[in-house]
Amino acid sequence: KKRIGVMTSGGDAPGMNAAVRAVVRMTIARGCDAYAIYEGYEGLVQGGDLIKKMAWSDVRGWLSEGGTLIGTARCMAFKERKGRLTGAKHLIEAGIDALVVCGGDGSLTGADLFRSEWPSLVQELIDTEVMTEEQVAPYRHLNIVGLVGSIDNDMSSTDATIGAFSSLHRICEAVDSIGSTALSHSRAFIVEVMGRHCGWLAVMAAVSTGADFVFTPERPPEGEDWESDMCKVLQKHRDMGKRKTIIIVAEGAIDRELKPITPNYLKDICVNRLGLDTRVTTLGHTQRGGTPCAYDRMLATLQGVEAVEAVLDSTPETPSPVIAINENKITRKPLMEAVKLTHSVAEAIGQKDFRKAMELRDPEFAD
Ligand code: F6P
Repeated sequence: KKRIGVMTSGGDAPGMNAAVRAVVRMTIARGCDAYAIYEGYEGLVQGGDLIKKMAWSDVRGWLSEGGTLIGTARCMAFKERKGRLTGAKHLIEAGIDALVVCGGDGSLTGADLFRSEWPSLVQELIDTEVMTEEQVAPYRHLNIVGLVGSIDNDMSSTDATIGAFSSLHRICEAVDSIGSTALSHSRAFIVEVMGRHCGWLAVMAAVSTGADFVFTPERPPEGEDWESDMCKVLQKHRDMGKRKTIIIVAEGAIDRELKPITPNYLKDICVNRLGLDTRVTTLGHTQRGGTPCAYDRMLATLQGVEAVEAVLDSTPETPSPVIAINENKITRKPLMEAVKLTHSVAEAIGQKDFRKAMELRDPEFAD
């Protein structure tokens, strides 16, 4: 009987509980045992109560819960081989030989490293007489399957990450609220949204709320004097009778010299050049908490089911998969290729090759 562990790692995202629920229930439905690893990689390192067998009813009601009920952490100990060695010991003691990890690219890279190191970790446990050959014999191979949980929608190879659409909803609601007060006072608002090095939340929020301008990390404003270009657009909208001005700025927004474009810098432009009464709103973690929207519940459930199927299909030879969604179909992609592509975007931005960054985000951009 296979024992499958599920954990959430990195920043929480709405829909993570739905994913855990789906993995637990599908595991049980497939006649296997389900385990939750609490507190992300910290749970592997600490073991004990943080590795808990899950029953069908343990995840009742989790579909609609925000955050992650099994906890998450950014664990330093797991970044060291010593921490991973202890993690391997705890997994073997619990009889777990497959892990479904729901997290961002950092968490999934850690998972793949754990898998590739696994044979040598097991050997070390034997060599140091922590465990015997007999004890480890059934655990010579660790299965890893990734689920991408992140509000940022920053993972290559998948159209949507679990949590991104809930966050987008939250941002839209907030911008709508800001809109009514902006309209009343005829004000400008600079709204800073999350997304780390990814502009997806900012762009989609701008499209969905009809914002006047948007700033992202991948596509900095063009031209020597983009500030004047922006002012022209904002003024044009005002001249057409608009009583509010909304600028959405991704937290990672930069100019072509990689200098951050800050909300306060934009505010000063609006005040000094356009004479607009301007306020800055940073939406912060309200974008991350709260109930998952229908799409994230559905995505997490379908992907959780697929993750268990992928565990059951996998062999020591198959590379770790990540469960994706492409053109509305749940798919499996090689985990490390997805991570590598994701890192290439950050590299392209670092090299000021913004065209490449955009092409990597969206191959159709090249056409
Ligand atoms: O990756 C999710 C995210 O919310 C990013 O959008 C943001 O940059 C970061 O995490 C915030 O992290 P923390 O929760 O550590 O403040």
